[in-house]
Amino acid sequence: MDKKIIFSGIQPTGNLTLGNYLGAINNWKKMQDEYKCNYCIVDLHALTIRHDPEVLRKNIINLLALYIAAGLDPEKSNIFIQSHVKAHSELAWILNCYTYTGELSRMTQFKDKSAKHADNINSGLYTYPVLMAADILLYQTDLVPVGEDQRQHVELTRDIAERFNNIYGQTFKIPESYIQGAAARVMGLQNPNSKMSKSSTIPNDYILLNDEPDVILSKFKKSVTDSENVVRYDVENKAGISNLISIYSAITTKSKEEIEKEFDGKGYGEFKVAVAECVIDELKPIQAKYKELLNNRDYLESIYKDGAEKAKRVANKTLEDVYKKVGLVL
Ligand code: TYM
Repeated sequence: MDKKIIFSGIQPTGNLTLGNYLGAINNWKKMQDEYKCNYCIVDLHALTIRHDPEVLRKNIINLLALYIAAGLDPEKSNIFIQSHVKAHSELAWILNCYTYTGELSRMTQFKDKSAKHADNINSGLYTYPVLMAADILLYQTDLVPVGEDQRQHVELTRDIAERFNNIYGQTFKIPESYIQGAAARVMGLQNPNSKMSKSSTIPNDYILLNDEPDVILSKFKKSVTDSENVVRYDVENKAGISNLISIYSAITTKSKEEIEKEFDGKGYGEFKVAVAECVIDELKPIQAKYKELLNNRDYLESIYKDGAEKAKRVANKTLEDVYKKVGLVL
């Protein structure tokens, strides 16, 4: 039987957080043998927010290095940069004509980002999910491994694909989001009621993948908990501790019950140190490999060039079919 097709991507907007790692990359690397994986650096999406061109150029390469350092294997998975495959922008334009403004207005990420960047609510920010739909649909994707926050965008992708297929006949496979693991929604350490994001104004709220061990330890030690001092999973009443349990569970693969037992009778202080240590141990080899890869620019370049060629072959086939179906002259 043919392997199922996977597509996912991350925006190169600077340092990634532990949320990006546990919600996405950590799951991606486990899928590489069983599935046909496409992992993209979605650089065009990053243009929706004001940025410094030189910084963006660096961030794109840094993210590629991080993908490899975290365990994505270019021999197994196709790794490429979105803007190198022009079909993404071209399909996005066509899909724009099959997406309603009402649908885009309902996207919670658009509402959040508009509130955060009130001085720059550009059209790209608004049509961002349509570009994401194009990313996914070009590859006839079966599964989209993402964190919980991207579920709504994948739902919209399905709606757009179904609408197009209903008008023109079978063109796109209908993808499903694949939300996995104990940490599909890593919450802030200072504000455990909202997702961990580096756009938080409190640096202690998030762990960056390149944070030094002492910084990681200090951030976990300062994390917000409750006064019960019992390590017990209860999102509603103990959001902070439940978040730490999820992080510990995602990394150690221990179940929530096992963790509660392990820390039975022990206080939050001890638990916080254990969580910090497992995160430090997880990130240490990734940080070392990352630094090493950044000195090997030729290797990184060979990966993204090769990746783009492979991606183009699949993407252009879908795009050509779409062009024909909507009545363009080829
Ligand atoms: P982005 O770049 O914001 O985030 C990348 C991935 O990290 C996950 N994530 C989290 N998971 C758990 N807890 C958190 N606190 C957390 N923060 C981020 C996200 O769910 C995501 O999986 N629109 C997408 C990028 C994209 C894409 C695509 C994804 C563009 N085209 C096609 C899949 C398929 C985004 O902005 O992700």
